[in-house]
Amino acid sequence: MRTKVAIIGGGPAGLMLGHLLTREGIDNVIVERQSGDYVLGRIRAGVLEQGTVDLLEESGAGSRMREEGLPHEGFELSFDGDPLRIDLKALTGRSVMVYGQTEVTRDLMRLREQSGAPTLYGAKDVSLDGLHDQPAVHFTQDGERRTLHCDYIAGCDGFHGACRKSIPADKLSLFERIYPFGWLGVLVDKPPAAHELVYAHHQRGFALCSMRSATRSRYYIQCSMDERVEDWSDDRFYDELSLRVNPAVAGALQRGPSIEKSIAPLRSFVAEPLRFGAMFLAGDAAHIVPPTGAKGLNLAIHDVRVLFEALADRYRSDSEAGLDDYSPRVLDRIWKTERFSWSMTTLLHTFPEHDPFTRRMQRAEFDALLGSATMRRVMAENYTGLI
Ligand code: FAD
Ligand code: DHB
Repeated sequence: MRTKVAIIGGGPAGLMLGHLLTREGIDNVIVERQSGDYVLGRIRAGVLEQGTVDLLEESGAGSRMREEGLPHEGFELSFDGDPLRIDLKALTGRSVMVYGQTEVTRDLMRLREQSGAPTLYGAKDVSLDGLHDQPAVHFTQDGERRTLHCDYIAGCDGFHGACRKSIPADKLSLFERIYPFGWLGVLVDKPPAAHELVYAHHQRGFALCSMRSATRSRYYIQCSMDERVEDWSDDRFYDELSLRVNPAVAGALQRGPSIEKSIAPLRSFVAEPLRFGAMFLAGDAAHIVPPTGAKGLNLAIHDVRVLFEALADRYRSDSEAGLDDYSPRVLDRIWKTERFSWSMTTLLHTFPEHDPFTRRMQRAEFDALLGSATMRRVMAENYTGLI
């Protein structure tokens, strides 16, 4: 089997890259370890930056998002019960779109199916070789070992994937912070407790009220990584969430049976550089941000946009200049986004090691946001997406 670009991983990064390449007439094959249904079953991101929305629209993948997505012009922060609205539209002229990662993935999968471009699901034990001369991807599918020869490999296989791990340790620098807590998330078919997202700092821990539609809500609470999902009945979850958000939001919270409940760890992570021979890392394979700033999916889409432009340039003009520039170009945005996600996480969570002074610093930062439109604008520019 032979293709121009072998894409490892059929999550949003891999699917978006495949979609852009196929539209440009560049042959590509997606190699995905799981089944399509499994990929769709993972409940993750909910907020799309303007740039992500624009790319979906421009590339012909935005029609359902335009119909069903919820444009949001602001969100609420609260600190120990005191509210502050961040008016994204007034501060930046831009807004964000609430449209789930599951739906973006479903739309991209459908377009891929229509295009006839191949996705090889259930591809196990992926290994790579020839990254400096004749790149090849080996994998097992239906019990048979297969090989895909290609010009380039896009490593879009997430944090635990095979691509980053196939780079020799002495060729890669890794930067990491693991936070001493996770997020317990619940998805429920009830209208959202507030019409905009609410990010709440509380002494008992962070809480987030988000949504997927006018009738489906997504809630998160900060929890210890020792917690087990089985120990959290729906009522225990809603009781704890109600304690952490403002009384008005708690009063409007509609309880219902959870349709998904899971715990996600929080981590900041960057690998450098993002090119090794003919392989390029993109999305969660290259970096992880803690979810507080709603940036992971958006950053993944930005990576693949840049990688697509570089590959298109390579096949149009035979120049590798764009590919040479890929790693430094995306790392610039990655580090700025890491900073924002880290600062939102630091402001809004309670840390076991925090002393009274550090708690006062968190409060002082919230008060500074309350008092300064300039500080709110910086937050809004980052939240809606750096230009
Ligand atoms: P993934 O989605 O991880 O996809 C990688 C794919 O590769 C998977 O399908 C996997 O099965 C496959 N794969 C793995 N290993 C192999 C292998 N060896 N061989 C073949 N295939 C393999 N981001 C936002 O922008 N906004 C948000 O609001 C937001 N909220 C979040 C909330 C939570 C609770 C979590 C956990 C994350 C959130 N994120 C958010 C982050 C976002 O979900 C990720 O950044 C995004 O999924 C990254 O996409 P990706 O395609 O790079 O990686
Ligand atoms: C969601 C997740 C986030 O991390 C965030 O900042 C906002 C919304 C969500 O899953 O809806």
